[in-house]
Amino acid sequence: MRQAGEEIRIASSRLRQFVASLWQHAGSSETEAALVADHLVQANLAGHDSHGVGMIPSYMASRRQGHLMQNKHIEVVKDAGAVLTVDGHNGFGQVAASEAMALGIERTRQLGMCAVALRHTHHIGRIGHWAEQCASAGFISFHFVNVVGDPMVAPFNGSDRRFGTNPFCAIFPREGQPPLLLDFATSGIAFGKTRVAYNKGVQVAPGYLIDHHGAPTNDPTVMHETPYGSLLAFGLHKGYGLAVMCEILGGALSGGQTTHESSLQKSVEAIFNSMTTIILDPKAFDAPQMQEEAQAFIDWAKASPQAGDSPILVPGEFEQAQRAARLRDGVPIDANSWQQILAAAREAGMPEAELAEYYGQVS
Ligand SMILES: NC(=O)c1ccc[n+]([C@@H]2O[C@H](COP(=O)([O-])OP(=O)(O)OC[C@H]3O[C@@H](n4cnc5c(N)ncnc54)[C@H](O)[C@@H]3O)[C@@H](O)[C@H]2O)c1
Repeated sequence: MRQAGEEIRIASSRLRQFVASLWQHAGSSETEAALVADHLVQANLAGHDSHGVGMIPSYMASRRQGHLMQNKHIEVVKDAGAVLTVDGHNGFGQVAASEAMALGIERTRQLGMCAVALRHTHHIGRIGHWAEQCASAGFISFHFVNVVGDPMVAPFNGSDRRFGTNPFCAIFPREGQPPLLLDFATSGIAFGKTRVAYNKGVQVAPGYLIDHHGAPTNDPTVMHETPYGSLLAFGLHKGYGLAVMCEILGGALSGGQTTHESSLQKSVEAIFNSMTTIILDPKAFDAPQMQEEAQAFIDWAKASPQAGDSPILVPGEFEQAQRAARLRDGVPIDANSWQQILAAAREAGMPEAELAEYYGQVS
């Protein structure tokens, strides 16, 4: 277990500028660097540090190993009207997913719905970001994602890692209010949350991890040092079942890959995702009371007498609250992660004088 260090806090606008500059020094175009920076900082703002700027050292390692390709764009490999299949050519997932969603949104404007299957892309990070892109166009979306060849999670009743943390996401836009946003890993906790706990030197809650013998443990070290243990899927056979569907709908239906012996990314730092997205225009349905009915349900659910100290939330409210607090107070980053990010910035070629400017922003 690592030793805990001092947490730093940095204004999100300054952090975005730092990350964009880092990727430009590493060779990304201005647009690519901005897309990656915005996505990572938005993940931190949403309270998902597991998918924020703490991913930079992993992306840099993937670039060093020649897996992450910079300045790539998606290619439409099959256009079947309401179904688009696109290839990300192992480029930055932040570019590929943004371009894929833009194509799907355009097609949904024409047809009322569209499925976009994205394959061969580097890590696409926080899936909620892509759902929010659809919701800002006024659309509902569902996202089934697999993590190709990077097993972390044991099957229900199994004892070793066989598949990825395969996230599922759905969004419902609301009039005059933030959308309902459900966005989670099908593992009980995201792998990145074990990285954050490992870097902070703290244990994770019970019920999420097993060691290499298949025995329950709370120590995140089992995910970061050999002999490796596994994450468990959330909700017993139900979470495991959803993970299976994400693997097949994300990996197989997109023409990408599922996880099995011959697709394992052995000794590879890169994270590759495939994602099948279904986008729906709510206006294409015969439901003039849709918004009122949605609100009536939310009011009804929230009227339940609170069982303890925590309020009743609907999906998406956690992220809204985090965003408000972090826009006000800055983004917290643990000391170990910040040191790793600064090392990645040096590797990208950021001059010491520029790095020193950012030290000055940190309290
Ligand atoms: N790209 C990848 O390969 C990959 C893999 C796994 C996870 N991820 C991402 O990691 C992020 C974190 O995933 P996670 O599993 O740790 O998320 P999580 O366990 O924090 O769950 C988040 C979801 O639960 C909702 N929520 C939180 N508290 C709630 C409450 N009290 N009541 C009702 N709803 C509540 C949130 O609004 C959100 O929809 C996600 O953004 C996910 O997309 C990405």
